[in-house]
Formats: sequence, structure tokens, C-alpha cells
Amino acid sequence: NLPQQVRLVEVGPRDGLQNEKQLVPADTKVELIRRLAAAGLKTIEATSFVSPKWVPQMGDNTEVLIRVLGGEAPAGLDYPVLTPNLKGFEAALAAGAKEVAVFGAASESFSQKNINCSIAESLERFRPVTEAARAAGARVRGYVSCVAGCPYEGPVAPEKVADVAETLLAMGCYEISLGDTIGTGNPVSISRMLEAVLRRVPAEKLAGHYHDTYGMAAANVYASLQMGVAVFDASVGGLGGCPYAAGASGNVATEDLVWLLHGLGLETGIDLDALVDVAAWISAELGREPASRVARAVLAK
Ligand code: HMG
Ligand code: MG
Repeated sequence: NLPQQVRLVEVGPRDGLQNEKQLVPADTKVELIRRLAAAGLKTIEATSFVSPKWVPQMGDNTEVLIRVLGGEAPAGLDYPVLTPNLKGFEAALAAGAKEVAVFGAASESFSQKNINCSIAESLERFRPVTEAARAAGARVRGYVSCVAGCPYEGPVAPEKVADVAETLLAMGCYEISLGDTIGTGNPVSISRMLEAVLRRVPAEKLAGHYHDTYGMAAANVYASLQMGVAVFDASVGGLGGCPYAAGASGNVATEDLVWLLHGLGLETGIDLDALVDVAAWISAELGREPASRVARAVLAK
């Protein structure tokens, strides 16, 4: 008894591109978002309003979001953006954002490396963001990183994940996205983590955000589906990685996820062939072959 409806959150333009060394032109980013929407994605994380000193690739956040919301990508879809603090939130709001995401971690060392503060300090920083968002009528999603493992501390206790997830929910986040940042989770460790989280946060408030570093992301999606999670983040072409998690590779490729879901008889509203074309196009723009197995198989036909 798997969920019948699954929602996909495309994070390629943000998570997928944030780690690219060469600056990708804003034109390419906007075109990527437009093509993803044309392939049937309904939620596309567009950029992040983080410090350009920390992540130079996202330095064109205002331009990208204004162009996307200004009509270069279809209206009526969701284009969330990351906002680590009030400064980022205000800039996102000024560019027209209707949905933002705060991002915390279940590991202290990762929190320090990624956002330069402790877990407790980060939660205190997110509170005014959620309050300002509520006042502005914007939705807030909450990420928890390192739900299975941390690049600095190793395995992370499920209870730590549940603590942060529950706090973000209580703060008003409409959904909590559980990030296996370095992809070391497997169906057993992900299920144990979900068991702990589900005691405090209902399944309909959860999303899985699984990086595919060790090739386990699709298996982790399947394990999560069996536990009632019905929202998954994915990155076209399997692009990406986190700048503060060395060696981490991209999220589960959107086309791998769509292949899995369609194979299970679940509807996504996504045109797989069109999506593979987007994977091929953006990979070529970045000067490489698509990383995903499904893209390679479909393109070889
Ligand atoms: P900080 O240096 O501690 O910030 O960075 P600060 O408040 O001390 O300010 C220092 C300077 O940064 C000031 O400028 C601020 O104005 C500026 P100065 O006076 O020196 O000229 N500043 C900003 N500028 C633009 N936008 C802002 C902003 N905030 C401050 N929002 C901060 C703290 C959080 C800003 C920094 O650490 C940061 O930007 N970190 C983001 C790192 C990042 O983007 N990581 C990747 C995304 S998370 C991820 O990939 C994981 C996820 O996918 C889930 C998963 O896979 O697990 C979500
Ligand atoms: Mg991520």
C-alpha cells in the first residue's frame, strides 16, 4: 500500500547547480527552469538567497527569480528558494518569492560548516524568517540535513533528526524535507530514521531529499514510500552536491525517480522523454554526459 499520489520537488536549478565551479549564466538557469516546467514539473526550487561569498554560483538569485516569476517560466507553478536568514528572506520577498525554505541540520559540525552557527542558533534564526513569511503570506519549507550521516561526524542519531524536524514543524514549516546530504543512508538506516521522525511529525508533512552518492537514493525513496512519505526532491540529470560536504554528489536524478514511480504505477504528470531531453541539454551545457542511468538508457535507444 504505497501512496497513490506522489509530489516531486525539482531541486536541480539550486542543489544541482550550487556546486558548479564555473559560473553558469543566468540565461541558462532560467532556460533550465522553463524546460523543467515544460516537462511537467510543478515545483521547481529556483535559486538560493545565501551569501554570495559562501556560494558564488547563486549570486544571480535576484535576477533569476525575477525573470522566472516575471513570465519567462510558466505562471501558476511553485518556485521556492532557500533563505538561511532574515536578510535572505527579505531579498527573496523583494524579488517576488511566494515560498521559501530554511535549512538546518541534525549534526552540529555540518551546521557550523554550512551556515556558520550551531543547530540551536540556526533555529533561533529561522524563527523570525517564519514569522516574516507568515506576515507576508509566504509558505516556508524546512530542510534537515545529515539525516543519515554527516561528513564530519559519521552516523547521525535518528532522535536528533526528529528533534530538529519537530521544531521546524512547530515553527510553522508546512513540510519538512529530510536530507541525506552525503547519500550514506540505506533502506534500513533511512527506515529507522523515519520511524523516529514519524513519532513526532506526520507522514503527510514529510519529504525525502536523498543524494545518490552511493547509488542508494532510489532504494531509499522506495523504503520511504512504504512508510507513507509521498513527496520527494530530485535533481534533473542527477546534477549537484553540497559545497560543504566534500565528495557528495547530486540528488536522486529526477528521471530515475520518475522511472521508478511510473514503474510502480504511480502517476507523476511528468513526460519522461521530455525530462531526459532536459537532462541531456543541461549536461551538455555543463560539458558532460548525464550522470543518471535512466537518461543514458533512454538516450541510447
Ligand atoms: P555569516 O558569514 O555567518 O553571516 O554567514 P553574517 O550574518 O555574519 O554576515 C556576513 C556577511 O554576509 C555580511 O556582509 C552580510 O550582509 C552577508 P558584509 O557586511 O560582510 O558585506 N549576508 C548575506 N548576503 C546575502 N544573502 C544573505 C546573507 N546573509 C548574510 N542571506 C550565512 C551565514 C548563513 C549567510 C552563510 O553561511 C551562508 O550563506 N551559507 C549558505 C551555504 C549554502 O548555501 N549551502 C548550500 C545549501 S544547503 C544544502 O545544500 C543542503 C540541502 O540541499 C539539504 C541536504 O541535502 O541535506 C538543503
Ligand atoms: Mg541537498
